[in-house]
Amino acid sequence: MEQKLEKIKKEALESIHSAESLDSLEEIRVRVLGRKGELTGILRTLGELPAEQRNAVGKKSNEIKKVIEEALDAKISGLQQASFSGLATSEWIDVTLDPALSFREKKPGHLHPISRTQYEIEDILTSMGFQILDGPEAETEYYNFEALNIPKFHPARDMQDTFWTEDGNLLRTHTSAIQIRGMEKMTPPFRIMAPGRVFRYEATDASHEHTFYQVEGMMVDKDISVAHLIYVMEEVLSGVFKSKVKVRLRPGYFPFVEPGFELDFSCLICGGSGCRVCKQSGWIEFLGCGLVHPNVLRAGGIDPEKWSGFAFGMGLNRLIMMQAGINDIRHFMSGDIRFVQQF
Ligand code: PHE
Repeated sequence: MEQKLEKIKKEALESIHSAESLDSLEEIRVRVLGRKGELTGILRTLGELPAEQRNAVGKKSNEIKKVIEEALDAKISGLQQASFSGLATSEWIDVTLDPALSFREKKPGHLHPISRTQYEIEDILTSMGFQILDGPEAETEYYNFEALNIPKFHPARDMQDTFWTEDGNLLRTHTSAIQIRGMEKMTPPFRIMAPGRVFRYEATDASHEHTFYQVEGMMVDKDISVAHLIYVMEEVLSGVFKSKVKVRLRPGYFPFVEPGFELDFSCLICGGSGCRVCKQSGWIEFLGCGLVHPNVLRAGGIDPEKWSGFAFGMGLNRLIMMQAGINDIRHFMSGDIRFVQQF
């Protein structure tokens, strides 16, 4: 047993010494000290040893555990230190440099990926007769909720956690608010789209951000059906991805559409056969859409007996994350030039 312990110690210290990344140190920690680790295994079977051995082996195991833990900690801080000093050489800025001279060597700026994709979608939709509208980021409760068939105290208000202002207004939680503003301005038939920034009072993580971008679309005409919606969505996605994209609809609930759908598109990474990005399903969950609810048409001054329409609201961040393989939505708002430079 003693020999076995010595062997574990020797091997662990050797591999810690030659490890070159934090990931490989973590692997070593799991292999030796983890729940199913080599040393943990021995500590767990202590009870089965004869009493006279139990003390000695227990003591020795704990000593070794401590030595390995200390070696791991020391190596981790060593590697971190090295990567910080590495940053100092790779990321330094010469503040004494003449800006006129240094500018010449710099790459010219370019669009942020959000703007680039937004403009692409604007081009595709305007080519199909959609007009671009704008609306305020600070909205009234009426445009963001009430006119969209979400009355006060309706549980659907909780679907979108809201930043309220002190005077009872809010930061728009979706671009759907512009549907109402659009209907007030336009006389049917019409097609409108509205790109913009939206805000949710949410804890942030790799897939949630308090500020993100949507593009709203709405078409009002005689006898609009789900087929029109599917066609427009396939055109937009095929245009953005520059290859034929298929969509499918699943039932979804949004108070301002009836019927309402969640729209998925065929995964472009695996071509539909299943991969990590689409969680083996072949489909990517993409947006909410549906046929405009009669109450919403009425709120916009449009007679639902005469006119019908479809609407959709797509998230730009998600689309770009899928397209460019970005795994954390927070990069978009981080202001980190290294992120933007990759596009
Ligand atoms: N506004 C919805 C959201 O942000 C999306 C949506 C728009 C759904 C239009 C249906 C129709 O989640």
